[in-house]
Amino acid sequence: MANNNRLCYDTGKLAMKSLLKDTFKLAEQLLQLEQDNATMPRHDVGTLSSQLSLELPQHGATQDQVFAKMSAVLRATPQTSSPRFLNQLFGGRQNYAAAADMLTALVNVSMYTYKAAGAQILVEQQLVQHMAKFAGFTNAEGIICPGGSMANFVGMMMGRDRANPSFREHGSDGRQHTFYVSDQSHYSVDKAAAMLGVGRANVRKISSDNRGRMNADDLAKVIETDIANGCVPCAVIATCGTTVLGAFDPLKQIASVCRKHDIWLHADGAFGGPALLHRQHRDLLDGIEYADSLTWDAHKVMGVPLTCSMLLCQHQGKLSKSVQQDAEYLFQVDHEDLNPGLRSIQCGRRNDAFKLWAAWQALGDNGWHQRLEQQFKLATFAADYIEQSPNFELCQRPDYLTICFKVYGVDVVELCEQLHVSGEALIGHANVRGDQVMRLVAVNPEISTSDLQRLFENIVAKQTSIISA
Ligand SMILES: Cc1ncc(COP(=O)(O)O)c(C=O)c1O
Repeated sequence: MANNNRLCYDTGKLAMKSLLKDTFKLAEQLLQLEQDNATMPRHDVGTLSSQLSLELPQHGATQDQVFAKMSAVLRATPQTSSPRFLNQLFGGRQNYAAAADMLTALVNVSMYTYKAAGAQILVEQQLVQHMAKFAGFTNAEGIICPGGSMANFVGMMMGRDRANPSFREHGSDGRQHTFYVSDQSHYSVDKAAAMLGVGRANVRKISSDNRGRMNADDLAKVIETDIANGCVPCAVIATCGTTVLGAFDPLKQIASVCRKHDIWLHADGAFGGPALLHRQHRDLLDGIEYADSLTWDAHKVMGVPLTCSMLLCQHQGKLSKSVQQDAEYLFQVDHEDLNPGLRSIQCGRRNDAFKLWAAWQALGDNGWHQRLEQQFKLATFAADYIEQSPNFELCQRPDYLTICFKVYGVDVVELCEQLHVSGEALIGHANVRGDQVMRLVAVNPEISTSDLQRLFENIVAKQTSIISA
């Protein structure tokens, strides 16, 4: 590494090649660390920030120094592909997607025009059309958004603009606009309502049944009362895979309520959208073809690096109607189809299509099915194990990939904390019907059943020590 002591403002092509070598070396070390995974330690924040010396310097450092600093930060970052990471709705790595994402940073295009992004625009178009087929959307358009929250925002915006076409131009006309969602929905809906000028207080939380699915009769009643009171219903947001229980709202029934009152139906499949790729479990989204728009995250269940969220719309032209803003300096050439900047909230937009496309090339439709099959098997194994254990109580058989369960005799918040501190597991808790329960997420298909068994044994050991303390 004799030449690695030059200062980093030397950024020519040769310098980049040398950086790449060090990048690969560091990447290999990180993968090894992940593989050794004896534990996944939690670092005390005070000690960590003093150890890392993260302050930004006045004078630049050498390549070796910068890599040493990057390495220290990366080693103190949670390993989300470790079998001990079971905390969030993402985890594990789709390798082709990860490789493509690294290359994406290298070519660094912005996805607003064909002129600026070339073939990458065609890649995104392929994804839109292919994913739309799985949803049964026949006249689809779509855009990749920076996350499911933003995709939900866009879906809800199209609903608002359909209900009140002048809202975009003139703002609210004084009438009360409303959204409808189940009481199990993701908080991004409330945030979007605030940002859309509708207001969080105008998000109606519809009751859910004992498995966490929206009650469609209740929805119909609430909408009818609102209409009678002069409200403007903008959209119903059906959740396909709720964040905690993994419940799927009954789309067909909800769609029939929406049709009756001519209300936009947005399906939030940030978590559950990928079930469309499984030949049997796609039934969870039965009726999806009646939705007007759909959020489908690839960065959760599909293992694509964050962020990668597809927003699909059934009706070509609606997206640009809600989003379009002329920019003479930008949209100068090519057909509108080739300029997705006309359909995106952002101006500069990161290319999040290439990584998903690369993963799809590697897996094909069949590979996604098999990947999901493995995820479902893990969820079933975990649920069976919990059901048979005298130490736990399963909240309900999982429809999807989250498994919620009680651990007898202990405060699960404390239990999760202890597992985290000891480095045994990063796992979360949630409130289910008034009880704090553990929520295990089976989205990393690389995890084995023995990893899960080890997790349960660790939980029981902690449970025993807490009870006897
Ligand atoms: C059901 C649901 N919708 C939307 C979101 C938001 O997705 P993102 O984290 O990609 O913004 C989540 C996130 O967990 C979710 O569970």
